[in-house]
Amino acid sequence: MELNVKQKSAVKVLYDTYKTDTVTRSQINDLVKKKKIANPSWLKSDKYKVDRGVYKLPLNNNTQSKKEVEEKTDTKAAYVVSSLTDNVVPSLISNFVNFGNYSDIKNIVKSKKFYPAFITGLSGNGKTMSVTQACAETKREMIRVNITIETDEDDLLGGYRLKDGQTIWQDGPVVEAMKRGAILLLDEIDLASNKIMCLQPILEGSGIYIKKINRFIKPKVGFNVIATANTKGQGSDDGKFIGTNVLNEAFLERFPVTFEQEYPSAKVEEKIVANTLKSAGKADQKFAHNLVTWADVIRKTYKDGGIDEIISTRRLVHIGEAYGIFKNKMKAIAVCTNRFDEDTKNSFTELYTKVDSGASVDQILEEKKKADLESYKQPDSDDSEDGEEDDINV
Ligand SMILES: Nc1ncnc2c1ncn2[C@@H]1O[C@H](COP(=O)(O)OP(=O)(O)O)[C@@H](O)[C@H]1O
Ligand SMILES: [Mg+2]
Repeated sequence: MELNVKQKSAVKVLYDTYKTDTVTRSQINDLVKKKKIANPSWLKSDKYKVDRGVYKLPLNNNTQSKKEVEEKTDTKAAYVVSSLTDNVVPSLISNFVNFGNYSDIKNIVKSKKFYPAFITGLSGNGKTMSVTQACAETKREMIRVNITIETDEDDLLGGYRLKDGQTIWQDGPVVEAMKRGAILLLDEIDLASNKIMCLQPILEGSGIYIKKINRFIKPKVGFNVIATANTKGQGSDDGKFIGTNVLNEAFLERFPVTFEQEYPSAKVEEKIVANTLKSAGKADQKFAHNLVTWADVIRKTYKDGGIDEIISTRRLVHIGEAYGIFKNKMKAIAVCTNRFDEDTKNSFTELYTKVDSGASVDQILEEKKKADLESYKQPDSDDSEDGEEDDINV
């Protein structure tokens, strides 16, 4: 359709005001209300509609050259409401201690290269923190998305939202990170369903076409993706990571590197706990040392299958903080291990008492082995007293 003079002028005013090739109904109405244009009802028709309440301006006629339009319709699109307007460089944490894969992760972040990385390891051993601190130290922007089984395209790429009674498009965190050239942290990615497969083109380093707004988003230099997970995306047969899912192999293939994050060494962990105790106003090197020894015994027993729960670095930090509040070591341990079942909780407390009395990791493990062996040799000694034997005699 050839536009008449009035129509062309309306398109020009709309374009000059919003600098985008698509406008929303409310943007049009706004200019009508301000008497800048006569109501262009012809524009608000199916012919120009690209989505609910969004219309494509017929710009080719004389308004702007195509090149000019392309140049101006990038990140500044007025109808694309940014969810984050502030600087998103994470803050430095003074208690942070560098260990394990940290320097490698920092080098990736610093390089500003598109080089997706996958970090796998048990819960609470510093995976998320290593990425946030790498970004903090290199002053790189980071956008974190906590993945759940419900996470879908709308959460990741964006969608229409109601704002002040109007429907507007809002970029999702992935698009936001691409436009900013930021690090996108996909946290706990193995909790995802296959609804995150929309990320596939992004993981290839190319841009993504978003059908809903008829736009192609190209990543800015510096954009990169780092994912963390408890598993390697192959699921968890032993039931230790409930809720984790098997990720698509082609999806995993898009991560050129995988880091296996272990718990920090005793020396590093002691420093982390000592820092926590100090910040909590209860500096106590011996307590830090004992807590780490205790966690070490528990982790070794867990590995051998002797216990079903583990004490993570996160939990040790929680105990340190609890000590700062309650000023009582055993209470701090109790409140932070109460979430475990009775048996586990009791054996944790018992183990701590042994550590506190000066026993070494090897001594405790040896003792535990002996005790296990004993109970294996003499099963059910209690039962014979109050029941079965009497019953047989009767
Ligand atoms: N390198 C570290 N320095 C200091 N504290 C750490 C470090 N790594 C982990 N922590 C502590 O452990 C907690 C859990 O770490 P986090 O990165 O959230 O674990 P993950 O992502 O592996 O589950 C942190 O909040 C912090 O208190
Ligand atoms: Mg985490």
